[in-house]
Amino acid sequence: MAELTRMRRKLQNCEQEHLLTFWDELGAAAQDALLEQLETVNFEQLRDYIEQFSSEAPLGFEHTDVAPPPVLPHKPVTAEQAEFYQQAKDRGNQLLAEGAVAACVVAGGQGTRLGFDGPKGCFQATPVAKKPLFQVFAEQIQAASNRSGKAIPWYIMTSRTNDTQTKAFLRRNHYFGLEPDNVRCFRQGAMPAIGLDGKLLLKSKGSLAMSPDGHGGILPALRKSGSLDDMAARGAALISYFQVDNPMVRCIDPLFIGLHDLHGSEMSAKALPKRDPMEKLGNFCVVDGKTSVIEYSDMPDELAMCTNDQGFLKFSAGSIAIHILNRSFVERLTKDGGCSLPFHRAEKKVPHIDATGKKITPDQFNAIKLEMFVFDALSLADKTLILETQRDEEFSPIKNAEGLDSPMTCLHHQVRRAANWLEEAGVDLPLDADGQVAAAIEISPLFADSAEELAAKLEPGLTIASGQQLYLGSRGQIGGTK
Ligand code: UD1
Repeated sequence: MAELTRMRRKLQNCEQEHLLTFWDELGAAAQDALLEQLETVNFEQLRDYIEQFSSEAPLGFEHTDVAPPPVLPHKPVTAEQAEFYQQAKDRGNQLLAEGAVAACVVAGGQGTRLGFDGPKGCFQATPVAKKPLFQVFAEQIQAASNRSGKAIPWYIMTSRTNDTQTKAFLRRNHYFGLEPDNVRCFRQGAMPAIGLDGKLLLKSKGSLAMSPDGHGGILPALRKSGSLDDMAARGAALISYFQVDNPMVRCIDPLFIGLHDLHGSEMSAKALPKRDPMEKLGNFCVVDGKTSVIEYSDMPDELAMCTNDQGFLKFSAGSIAIHILNRSFVERLTKDGGCSLPFHRAEKKVPHIDATGKKITPDQFNAIKLEMFVFDALSLADKTLILETQRDEEFSPIKNAEGLDSPMTCLHHQVRRAANWLEEAGVDLPLDADGQVAAAIEISPLFADSAEELAAKLEPGLTIASGQQLYLGSRGQIGGTK
């Protein structure tokens, strides 16, 4: 069989011939499937990565020229800036009315830390209606479309582990009211797991252990799946990017979109002032003259703790993984079908079979996974913009089962935000002895997805009792229980 001989030679050249150890034990269909999987791997490129990554410890921090980046404030501070922000908001709304914006969520991660069995987007995240994360985003997208009068196509990046489940979940829930044609799932790529000896791991006798190629995999996946062409056909020139783990995100933000456009930025990002130097957020920096994110795990402590002349943290802008990207920028980065982003190494526990075919479930890290990070694209953009946002308005991710960034903390923050909006609209809130809101409150994005919209729409006379579960639905009707 010519294909097998060619593959065997290729694997020998890359010292990976062990991947065919069990070939003779496989049936014809399993042999075909294995060959097909091996054909998808770029072994020459992998050999370079293995040399670079597998033997040594993680690469240290190499740059000397590191400075904090310029960050626009979340609210304008001067009259001139106020005028510019108003123009930007108008421009954002105009772009939305022209149908120039697509929404895009990365939902291919494995959600290991949360311990939820299923795609994270199916996780019930809201305090009263218990809406799954996908519904929260779908309703925001619908609300923005209602306001602009133009549909916003929504692209959902899945991985091979959760693609089928994600599609079935969306279908079963009738796409949460969106037109099915405006919701497109596309699968990210995968990379083989590399054992600590530089050999790729087999998951079974006839398949490699593979894992998603990181959220940066969105760039080649948008290209390969035809999503970029689909966006072009719809006239969508801007991609509003967010992560599946943060129900407080404003998926579609006219101000952010307009600032990005008026600034001529190719890729923009939202930032938060970090809670403390060690908070697990990527750090916005200018490295060798280019806007970059240094991941929290790669940031040397002395740099993270560094303060400026006024005694404030020098690198205080944390990345919350909210971006606008020009479609033309993504087209440029993926023009040869590949992708210009570098791979990072992550040490993981990967179940596999050994040389005798025995199943191994490691209790310590035994493999290296290679992942691309979307924020690395910032340094490849001709122009970038960073806009500060407020934590209590826009960021409370669900990452861990308990403690910080967990479902509990996120529920608390969602209630707090809804309470802030109601307070701004003149509603009195019941408080407990610690000054915390003593009711569960949820506002549907289809009714209002900002304090201003709520204040404009809310009928006077709303009262909230202590212990009440209050849900303000799409037409402002009140649900929930006392
Ligand atoms: C990430 C960022 C961090 C940022 C923080 C904000 C990285 C390496 N770090 O941290 O800078 O401050 O979010 O919350 O990204 N995903 C995929 N496919 C993959 C891997 C991830 O779609 O192959 C998606 C996940 O579904 C999730 C998002 O990317 O929506 C974040 O992934 P995760 O690995 O949880 O990143 P964090 O370490 O939490």
